[in-house]
Amino acid sequence: MSLHVIIMAAGKGTRMRSALPKVLHPLAGKPLLAHVIETAQQLDPEQIHVIVGHEGARVRQNISTMHLNWISQTQQLGTGHAILQALPHIPPQAQVLILSGDVPCIRRETLMKLMQSTPETQEEALHLLVATLDQPQGLGRVIRNQAQHICAILEEKDATATERAIQEIYTGICYVNAKHLARWLPSLTNQNTQKEYYLTDIIALAAAEQRPILSTTVTETMEIQGINDRAQLQQVERFYQLEQAQQLLQAGVTLADATRFDLRGTLTCGQDVFIDINTIFQGDNVLGDECTIGANCLLTNVTLGKGCRILPHSVLENCIIGDHCQVGPFARLRTGTQLAADCKIGNFVETKKATFGEGTKASHLSYLGDVTIGTAVNIGAGTITCNYDGLHKHQTIIEDGAFIGSDTQLVAPVTVGKNATIGAGSTLRKDAPPEALTLTASSQKTIHGWHRHTLHAAVEENTSES
Ligand code: UD1
Ligand code: CA
Repeated sequence: MSLHVIIMAAGKGTRMRSALPKVLHPLAGKPLLAHVIETAQQLDPEQIHVIVGHEGARVRQNISTMHLNWISQTQQLGTGHAILQALPHIPPQAQVLILSGDVPCIRRETLMKLMQSTPETQEEALHLLVATLDQPQGLGRVIRNQAQHICAILEEKDATATERAIQEIYTGICYVNAKHLARWLPSLTNQNTQKEYYLTDIIALAAAEQRPILSTTVTETMEIQGINDRAQLQQVERFYQLEQAQQLLQAGVTLADATRFDLRGTLTCGQDVFIDINTIFQGDNVLGDECTIGANCLLTNVTLGKGCRILPHSVLENCIIGDHCQVGPFARLRTGTQLAADCKIGNFVETKKATFGEGTKASHLSYLGDVTIGTAVNIGAGTITCNYDGLHKHQTIIEDGAFIGSDTQLVAPVTVGKNATIGAGSTLRKDAPPEALTLTASSQKTIHGWHRHTLHAAVEENTSES
């Protein structure tokens, strides 16, 4: 039997109070809708249909998944109306799974459970995913008859006080054959408090036909938590992050505090990795065996070799770091930084498009951009590659074994030869030859008999003259 998934994502999400369509708000760095699409893909359906409306073009642009059937619902007249827009795109005998773009944590296993039953029942019954909540506020309540069979779903706004006391709710997720939808949907009306065409009204129609209405109950309620406002978004984010943290702990990673860890992408760790508090990982990161990440670091698309130590407050982006390197505290490694083994980058060093050979060190206060540095080079404190002339970027090359004295400016393009030594305070505008000392120091003067008040007097005299 062919499976078609419909994801409803046309609503504005007014309660988010945002210019961004609700389903594009990120959960763990990825749009809510992308989470639902990924889960749907794991079910291997014939087709995934996504219903968009409010800012539909923007939603489409921000979802990179291929082979989706985008359907536009120009006016958001309700969930029943939304599904009606999808029907012409679905073969009349297909099984349909209906998901919401704003329920991002739903699991594949739960959906499999909802969809498992004998083929005959599958076609004939209406399958609902439900839950029992302590706080069912805002959700559709499941109405059962005396025999405990489901006979309707009532939206909270249309329910009486007694009905509102019901704790069994509809999750917004159901599974049904397209032929029934084709019969029921056109007969829906919008005669209710919200003047909307409710998809949930099909339950009463199914009951009137004596059709079996089966329910699957979800126990992990965060899985079916819809996101309607920022408070719910934050709640789901914490749930999702804690789940990711648990998975890492189980995989053998030490986290100083699972509640102060954020992963917005993927993180692959070797053995005995330690991650301190308040660390954020974005994009795809890989940490080798025995790496340690200090507190308050931000890593975006970083690959670390074995035994690296990233000290607190460091920010690394699009970098490849070799074995046993030490970075930080307070280091900033920007795009295109590549360190061979045993390098050291200390505090207040910024690198960009910088390649370091094995054992090279820049321990303090430097800007190293558009630079290729050989092995065993020592970069003194305050070294700056002047890589930008206001129009173009230029390269600096520092060959193996060079020693760059403190406070050196390397005006690119410039090359420092192998084993060269650059005297402290130099400004290099020409290449420095290998195996020699190069320096541009001006001679040091001492003025005897000079007193600070003399200078003062001179300054005052100058000011009064002008
Ligand atoms: C819906 C259910 C409610 C259930 C709850 C679970 C209905 C009438 N109610 O209520 O029983 O307990 O989900 O979270 O179905 N959408 C469209 N087009 C529309 C209207 C909505 O695509 O015209 C989309 C929304 O973008 C959203 C989803 O459908 O992704 C659900 O709509 P929403 O308005 O959030 O319904 P709820 O009030 O949450
Ligand atoms: Ca909702």
